[in-house]
Order: sequence, then C-alpha cells, then structure tokens
Amino acid sequence: MIFLQDVSIGYQHVPVLQNIDLQVDKGEFIGIIGLSGAGKSTLLKSMVGKTKILSGEYRVCNLPVHKSSKKGMKELRSRVGFIFQGYNLVNRLNVLHNVMSGMLKDISLMRSVIKFYNAAEFDHAYECMKLVGIEQLALKRSDELSGGERQRTAIARALVQNPELILADEPVAALDPKSAVTVMDILQNINRSFGVTVIANLHHLDLARRYCSRILGISEGGIIFDGSPAELCSQHVELVYRRRMLAA
Ligand SMILES: Nc1ncnc2c1ncn2[C@@H]1O[C@H](COP(=O)(O)OP(=O)(O)OP(=O)(O)O)[C@@H](O)[C@H]1O
Ligand SMILES: [Mg+2]
Repeated sequence: MIFLQDVSIGYQHVPVLQNIDLQVDKGEFIGIIGLSGAGKSTLLKSMVGKTKILSGEYRVCNLPVHKSSKKGMKELRSRVGFIFQGYNLVNRLNVLHNVMSGMLKDISLMRSVIKFYNAAEFDHAYECMKLVGIEQLALKRSDELSGGERQRTAIARALVQNPELILADEPVAALDPKSAVTVMDILQNINRSFGVTVIANLHHLDLARRYCSRILGISEGGIIFDGSPAELCSQHVELVYRRRMLAA
C-alpha cells in the first residue's frame, strides 16, 4: 500500500523528516505518535503529495508520489481518503452536501456547482452516513454540529470515495473521551470490515495502543520506533517524547 525508500520530506528545501524507509501493507491500522512539531502531519500529507518530497522513492497505492504527474496525483487522491486536522467542512452546507462533496473527484464541476447528484450517489452517501451514525443529521448545517458529529461527517466524506487508504490527522484530538472512542471504533470497523488501510496521527498513547496493529514513533527527523503496541515499552515512549520529558 505504501513504500518509502530513503525518503526526505520537507518545506521549500528544508527537510523535516530524513532518510525514511517505510512499508505499509493492505489492512494495517497504523498510529503515528510524536511530539508536536515532530512531523506527523508532514508525513501524512506527503502521502497524498501535499508536502515536498526532497529525495527518495515514494509509492502510495503503487503510484509514484515522488514523480507524479497532475493526472497521477488526481488518481492518487481519488483512492486515498484524507481526514484533516480540524475537519475542513464547509460550514454553510448541510451534512449531506458535505459528505457528497467527497465524490467531487468523480463528478463534473457543473454537477457539483448545481448540487445535482443521481439516486445511486445519494444512496451511497446515505450508506456512508449510516455507517458512522449521522444519517439523522443529513439536513443539519455543519456549523451546528458537535465536534464528534463534525468528525464523523468528515469520515463519511472520506468514505464516499471508496478509498483503499484512509489518512486521519489527529481524528480525536479535539474530542471528549467518549466521542473519541466512538470515532476510533468507527475507524476500526472500516478497517476490519472493508479491509481499508488506516493511518492516524494520535496524541493519545492509550488509544494508539488499544486500536492500532502497528505504531510509528517520530522524533528528531526520523522514525525511531516501528512495532506493535506490545513492543512499545516505556523506554521507547521516553525516547519519542524525550524533549518534553527533559523540559519537565
Ligand atoms: N507549511 C509549512 N511550511 C514550513 N514549515 C512547516 C509547514 N508546516 C509545518 N512546518 C514545520 O514542519 C515541522 C513539522 O510540523 P508538523 O505539522 O508535521 O508537526 P506535527 O507532528 O503534525 O505537530 P502537531 O502534533 O502539533 O500537529 C514543524 O517544525 C513545522 O513548523
Ligand atoms: Mg499535526
């Protein structure tokens, strides 16, 4: 699903992560942990070509991100659902139309402007809303939703494009513990029932341990831990969060 060999990623020409080797198989549920500023979002965004790949070989869904054409990038983004830190919903639109906007990659600009979708597309959006339990909110404006409802709308929007891979940037950071568990359960269900690979940046170590099959720890420009939750011991955690502990 993902293959990185000796990859450096950054902004302009300044690397944030360097010499990264990483392979992710279909069906994995990966949690990325690390301090604020470590490069978690940078890594996730690079998987859909939203940060600069400075060097190395980088393939996602077998497409070469490091040398993708505009057309290749469009194909990649249609196969990967991205759930943004902060939801990225359109406030003035209701839940249904926010969810439908996830299909924009497949329909014409004109149809999206006049919000013309066919019955099969509505059915599909309804199924996705049902899967995350927001079908009863379909006609509510998205700026009238709670944080958990917004996050579930963002997940449904990613689901309508039938992704092979879901990238979630801190999907539960802004949620209370109960809503956080609801959202993680939904991601787990999508992963287990449909075989969709999930990669999520997580600030909650306990959630990473509970839900992920594999954890990546990022620190000082590299992946310093790559293993199962059982393998992640307190020394690894100390290493990943070292600067914060030293400061404390
Ligand atoms: N658009 C940008 N241009 C230049 N530098 C950036 C940009 N976005 C992020 N950075 C820098 O890249 C580094 C990694 O940032 P990133 O957002 O990936 O961290 P993070 O691990 O996701 O942090 P957080 O947990 O706070 O979300 C930081 O030093 C940040 O200042
Ligand atoms: Mg981030």
